[in-house]
Amino acid sequence: MRILLTGSSGWLGQTLAPRLKALGHQVTGLDPVAADQTTIIGSVADRGMVRSVLRDGRFEAIIHAGGLHKPDIDRNSRDTFMAVNVQGTFNLLDEAVEQDVPRFVFTSTTSLMISAAIRAGRAGGMREAAWLTEAMAPEPRNIYGVTKLAAEKLCRFYHDAFGLAVVVLRTARFFPEADDMAHAIDQSDENTKANELLFRRLTVGDAAEAHVVALQRASDLGFGLFIVSAPTPFRPDDCAALMTDAPAVVARYFPDYPALYRRRGWTMFGSIDRVYDASHAASRLGFTCKTGFAEVLRGLAEDGPQARG
Ligand SMILES: NC(=O)c1ccc[n+]([C@@H]2O[C@H](COP(=O)([O-])OP(=O)(O)OC[C@H]3O[C@@H](n4cnc5c(N)ncnc54)[C@H](O)[C@@H]3O)[C@@H](O)[C@H]2O)c1
Repeated sequence: MRILLTGSSGWLGQTLAPRLKALGHQVTGLDPVAADQTTIIGSVADRGMVRSVLRDGRFEAIIHAGGLHKPDIDRNSRDTFMAVNVQGTFNLLDEAVEQDVPRFVFTSTTSLMISAAIRAGRAGGMREAAWLTEAMAPEPRNIYGVTKLAAEKLCRFYHDAFGLAVVVLRTARFFPEADDMAHAIDQSDENTKANELLFRRLTVGDAAEAHVVALQRASDLGFGLFIVSAPTPFRPDDCAALMTDAPAVVARYFPDYPALYRRRGWTMFGSIDRVYDASHAASRLGFTCKTGFAEVLRGLAEDGPQARG
């Protein structure tokens, strides 16, 4: 397939573009920043440029992974977020319809489901973890979430009004950097990321693979919106205990975790405030992450007793 990939210079784009090429696709990378996988330097906010790129490329699919995300909030105005994440997505969708591009995959974010109340651990007025599925009505807490939600709505509109096949991937965190709250917990980065695979993270390789599957399935699905995160072992009736004593809940599902963690000097979060449920992606999209908490534990067991730090 001839594919336009936006955000090709980013963390996801640099992983996804080689994967698509290995599968035999022709990938044109579009990004304002130059990098290996980027063929065209430009912004999705530039309608004229988007029009000419689509006219010249005769693409069979657009994967729209480019844009501004949470770390960009401090560096960019709300105007810029609107121009890039909303107008930019509109430009791509509108030109896709004008120029008969039949498939569109949009990289969204689970972050848009986190309201101020969920973040404060007050989901539904109770002190329990929020169980998050595609059925919830998001109330984003920042300009990143609001613009991503608006872009999701545009995707839905272009499917309903024009029949464009669209898959929206509400992707959990896969960034390599330490969390902005990391200073608050005395934990190695590897330890924190392992914990997060229980409820709010996936590897960048799995994020890329979800896009590959979305691309393959878009025409059959017509429209789909999926949470993409490593499979959680938890169930909705764990939510109260997750908030008050997460280690006990984790130990119920993984009885060997406390010993494996102890010998590395690792710790579990005391409290878990949300769980992204990716079961709809498993059942309808046919995608499940390869790496989850169980795989991490298997790796720890195979590594033997030496300290990891
Ligand atoms: N990193 C995460 O944990 C995470 C989690 C959920 C969703 N996402 C989403 O995944 C996508 C990729 O994120 P990433 O982690 O690779 O981030 P990244 O910042 O590494 O990559 C984003 C890329 O988009 C490009 N970009 C910025 N403005 C653009 C514009 N006007 N036109 C075209 N491209 C533009 C950037 O130059 C960058 O290369 C983003 O849409 C992000 O919102 C990321």
